[in-house]
Amino acid sequence: MAVLQAGKAIKTPSIELNSGVTIPQIGLGLWQVKDQAQFTAGFTAALTAGYRHFDTAQIYHNEQMLGAAWKASGVSRTDVFITTKISVTQFAPFTVRPSFKHSLDKLQTDYVDLLLLHFPVPVLRRSAWKTLEKIYHEGGARSIGVSNYTIKHLEALKKYASISPAVNQVELHVFLQQPELIAYCQANNIAVEAYSPLAHGRRMNNEIIASVAKKHGKSFAQIMLRWCIEQGCIVIPKSVNPNRIIENIAILDFKLDVEDAAKLTALDENLRTCWDPTRIP
Ligand SMILES: NC(=O)c1ccc[n+]([C@@H]2O[C@H](COP(=O)([O-])OP(=O)(O)OC[C@H]3O[C@@H](n4cnc5c(N)ncnc54)[C@H](OP(=O)(O)O)[C@@H]3O)[C@@H](O)[C@H]2O)c1
Repeated sequence: MAVLQAGKAIKTPSIELNSGVTIPQIGLGLWQVKDQAQFTAGFTAALTAGYRHFDTAQIYHNEQMLGAAWKASGVSRTDVFITTKISVTQFAPFTVRPSFKHSLDKLQTDYVDLLLLHFPVPVLRRSAWKTLEKIYHEGGARSIGVSNYTIKHLEALKKYASISPAVNQVELHVFLQQPELIAYCQANNIAVEAYSPLAHGRRMNNEIIASVAKKHGKSFAQIMLRWCIEQGCIVIPKSVNPNRIIENIAILDFKLDVEDAAKLTALDENLRTCWDPTRIP
């Protein structure tokens, strides 16, 4: 793999999780990246641009590619932040642990920086969380958290958890703003990770965002991502296009003003492009 080019990388801010671990606020999403050549090109572009945080999952079927790409890069383990997620099909007692061991093997590491339960599967999520707590105590994960949890799921978790989740990774973007969930997580010291921060590419023609982008001399995607980090969230845009990967991290040299914020706030339409966990008991 190409040697990293000095001087071109952007240093992203970090957020301290309740585990004491710091997480780079901008990471690279890896869902639907399945082609090896595409993966390697994207990973290389990301490292060169300054990304050190990579978001995979068992269900993405690319943990092996991430492990191989990171190893080949020569970047030390402590300089990359790796998240993976236990798949909903692996929540049963006695399957969480072996499936996680398999993930570690594929990632070529003996720990992950963040291990998440992918979805609030009814009933089974309780025992799965207790197993994550054990994995945390054993050093297999430096932080543990959840994904797609609503306030109701987090309140239920509080009753049986010995460890509070470090992160709740949820769909969050200008078109699905979830202010109550953000406020709840902030009050409970749970970091919010915004997934599908570009609304999975579903609203890339909105005229208001285009006008804010023009005003700042930034791209449409950069406005959407900047909005997320200004909510205090971690953001994990996905791209396999090296130019877009560079564009998506270049969001630290400008700020949205009060007028922009008001326009963007008005765009909330509760748009879900991925899972909808709200009806899960
Ligand atoms: N926990 C969960 O349940 C969950 C669910 C969904 C997602 N996630 C995580 O969140 C990550 C991001 O979410 P996502 O993949 O759903 O969608 P996203 O990041 O909101 O959007 C990705 C789409 O936008 C395009 N794109 C990226 N950068 C762009 C740019 N600068 N300009 C124009 N288009 C751009 C991408 O195309 P190209 O690739 O062609 O650039 C792709 O089609 C995932 O990869 C995954 O890691 C987690």
